[in-house]
This record gives sequence, C-alpha cells and structure tokens, in this order.
Amino acid sequence: MTAIREQLNRLLTPGATSLSAPELAALLKAQGKSCDAIYAAAEQVRQHSMGEAVHLRGIIEFSNVCKNNCWYCGIRCGNDHVARYRMTAEEIVDTAKNAKLWGCGTVVLQSGEDPFFTAAILSDIVRRVKGETGLAVTLSVGVRSRDELAQLKEAGCDRYLLRFETTSNALFSALHPDEPFEHRVQCLVDLRALGYQVGSGFMIGLPGTTLEMIANDILFATRLKLDMIGCGPFLSHPDTPLAGKPLLEDRSVYYKTIALLRLLNPTAHIPATTAFDALEPEGRNHVLMRGANVFMPNVTPGKYRRLYQLYPNKPCVDEEGAACALCVRGRLAALGREIGTGPGHSVRQP
Ligand code: 5AD
Ligand code: FES
Repeated sequence: MTAIREQLNRLLTPGATSLSAPELAALLKAQGKSCDAIYAAAEQVRQHSMGEAVHLRGIIEFSNVCKNNCWYCGIRCGNDHVARYRMTAEEIVDTAKNAKLWGCGTVVLQSGEDPFFTAAILSDIVRRVKGETGLAVTLSVGVRSRDELAQLKEAGCDRYLLRFETTSNALFSALHPDEPFEHRVQCLVDLRALGYQVGSGFMIGLPGTTLEMIANDILFATRLKLDMIGCGPFLSHPDTPLAGKPLLEDRSVYYKTIALLRLLNPTAHIPATTAFDALEPEGRNHVLMRGANVFMPNVTPGKYRRLYQLYPNKPCVDEEGAACALCVRGRLAALGREIGTGPGHSVRQP
C-alpha cells in the first residue's frame, strides 16, 4: 500500500516525472484498498481539472461496410453474417438534428473503412450537418490520406477519432492484415498538424497482452498529448478469428487503466466507452466514477443498430430514438453529475 501511495503522490504532484512502464504495471496489479486509492485519486483529478459536467457526444454509426479484415472486429469484411448498410446523407443529417434536439453538443460520425464515403462525399455531409445543426462534428472513419483529412477539415470537421489499438508492433501487425502501425501513427500526426482535436486510444486486454504492454499503451497515449482518449475492453466476437478469447481474469485492470489515463492526462476528454456496458451492466457508470467525463449516447436509427456490432453484447441495440439520450440523463442524475453544455471542445493547449 505504501509503495502505491508514494506512486500516486508522484502522479498527483504537478511537474513530477511520470512513472515508468514497470511502475504503472505495478499499479495495474493493485487490489483492495490500493485499487480504491487509484480510483479515488483519478476522481480527485477529474473533479479538479474537468469538473462535474459530462459532455454528450451522440454517435451515428452511418455505415457498417468495411474494406478491412481486422481480426477482432465484428464488421470485418470477412464476416459474411453481417447485412451491410449505408445511411444516406439525408438520414445522417436528420439523425444529427435529432441528436441536437436530445441535448448532444457533438455528433460523432462513425463507420467502417467504407470506400464509398470519399472525402468529397463526407465533406458535403460535414458541411450540411454543421450548417443545419451548428453541432461540433467528429469523424471516425479510419485511416485517410493527409489530402483527404485536409479537405474534411476545410469542410468544417472539428475532431477525429482513430485508435492506435495497441503499441505492440508485433500484436498490431498480427491483428491488422491490411495496414501497418506506422500509417495510423502518421494519420494521427497529420490530424494534429491540420488543426484537428485528436482522439485516440486502445483496446484493453487484446489476446496476449501483459500488464506491461497496457502500461506502454497508457504511456504512448499520454505522449501523444491527445485531446480525447477513448479506451475500452476487448470483447471476443464469435464471428472473428479471435472467437472464444477470454476476458482479463482481473476485471479491475480495465477500470484502473482508465483511472491511470486520467491521472496522467488531467485535462484530456475521457469517455466512458460503450464496451464497458458490454463488460457489465453498469460498466459505463463505474467508468464515470473512475476518471471519465464524456458519454456517447447511441443516436443511430434503431433499424441499423443490430447491424453495427463490433463486439457481442453491445448495449442499446434494441433501443431507438431518444432512448439513450434520455437514459444517460437518469444515469448522470443518479451519479450526481451534470450534463455538459456547448460543444465541449478540448481544453488542452495545442
Ligand atoms: N472489442 C472491443 N472493441 C472493439 N473495437 C473493434 N472491435 C472490438 C472488439 N471486438 C473497437 C476498436 C475500434 C473501435 C471503433 O471499436 O478499438 O477502434
Ligand atoms: Fe442506451 Fe441506456 S445508454 S439505453
């Protein structure tokens, strides 16, 4: 306990040198009172740096078509059990209007790596969403060239999400037959240079990960000085080559990862990602009490939700309309948290 206290004190001291990977791995092992101390420290930092507001980012899963075959993902192109769909521009704009009506300050437009949605088509959608709602717009559409990203920025896109998934080069290449790690990192560098607010992160507990590897992922995410850090548990999908892979034995590692990210990144936006609700029923609520300050209600039209299952047990797939946006209000009220107003832009210095 004392060693953990000392390390937490180091993390809480402004300007202190950050912890090494082995030290972070030791924190990820903490149990009982030591584990609670990590959660409490993360909450203290979250309260101090981000306050009680939880920003709502409505997620629109607008296409489940994907050209890639990532080993973990339920909508990989090799999975022929999935009926593929694309929303029309009209549907996307209408959904964004609903998201605004339901209290979201941002819409996140997410899809598989779908070549149909060229930068020109996406730019038109971004312009229309911005023009007709005034909401902040985040894109999450996979790796794109610098030219395409520049075009999308020009169209008014505010933010971009692209997880690096893991910093282990060997694991990354084993899981991504279509693309090297370097391309993703280059894309993140391009996004920053183009003036985007940049979000990234990783899956926690991919097969073969050790605590030291998670510690390295935490350190890498921190070094990128991200505006948003989104991480969630890896959940094995039955229609992928990773079918049957188990969860981490110690579930608290998932939550400690989020808490440590908060301790190392006081002013980053950190969402309570949807996958935590697939891990356990109140998973997202727990994350909100362990360092997170963002919630992404699903606003995708009900008829598409079942078709966008990157992992099994995805929550909210039988809901539709305003259900998630209403549900989050109840959750936040129960936790004594407020709903963020405005776009909830990054508060980090560029
Ligand atoms: N389990 C958990 N997260 C997953 N993602 C994709 N497949 C899975 C899975 N099986 C995450 C990836 C991706 C994000 C959109 O969803 O991290 O970047
Ligand atoms: Fe979707 Fe609760 S967040 S129903």
